[in-house]
Amino acid sequence: MLTVSDLRAGYGQLEVLHSIDLTVDAGEVVSLIGANAAGKTTTLNTLAGVLPPSAGSILFDGEDITRLPSHARVERGLVLVPQGRQLFGHMTVEENIDLGAYTKRAARHAAGTRAEVFDLFPVLADRRRQQAGTLSGGEQSMLAMARGLMAKPRLLMLDEPTEGLSPLLVSQTMELAGTVAERGMTILLVEQNVVQALKRAKRGYVLESGKITMSGESADLLADDGLRAAFLGL
Ligand SMILES: Nc1ncnc2c1ncn2[C@@H]1O[C@H](COP(=O)(O)OP(=O)(O)O)[C@@H](O)[C@H]1O
Ligand SMILES: [Mg+2]
Repeated sequence: MLTVSDLRAGYGQLEVLHSIDLTVDAGEVVSLIGANAAGKTTTLNTLAGVLPPSAGSILFDGEDITRLPSHARVERGLVLVPQGRQLFGHMTVEENIDLGAYTKRAARHAAGTRAEVFDLFPVLADRRRQQAGTLSGGEQSMLAMARGLMAKPRLLMLDEPTEGLSPLLVSQTMELAGTVAERGMTILLVEQNVVQALKRAKRGYVLESGKITMSGESADLLADDGLRAAFLGL
């Protein structure tokens, strides 16, 4: 579904991503893990069309989308839930959710998708008239995911959905991501909670200083001594 080849990107003269190759097949959950500043957000922003690549290509369903603007990628179903949630705190839960359905395709289905989203996240339905800024961290993460789902993604990219959450909420949030996946969503999951991410994902990529240094089945990565030393302190 997604094929990324020799992708390079950065900020001004600074190259942050040095030739990234990765693939995500339909129906898979794939995790991209790495330490702080490894380039995870830069990768997702480049895939989402927020940041222009300096080289390489991005194919989505066989179509070259490397130069497409962000909204055209969303229209095709490549949707980013950004790091830090980026909610509108003074708007209600429901208003934030509805903002996700801004493309033509999503807008046509908005009412039905909203019902599905509320079914998936009942706590958001209960709080639909509450200001988003007054939600707990876990609920805000849910709301960011819900808003992403309103865009009718075919591939959902989640950038650290568990950031800043307590261990219990980390598990609950990852479980919700798992539920979204079970309902047929393809997910590219960026996480620093390495164990949790690899448990949810079938495969993973390890990003270090802008390069993919390891990749494979999650079970193999979890058993790898180098990875355990680098990320789990084991
Ligand atoms: N807007 C920016 N301008 C300049 N450098 C940036 C910018 N955003 C990120 N960087 C740098 O790019 C590198 C990768 O950052 P980022 O992709 O956010 O990493 P991660 O998401 O893995 O923590 C870091 O060294 C960071 O300082
Ligand atoms: Mg990041």
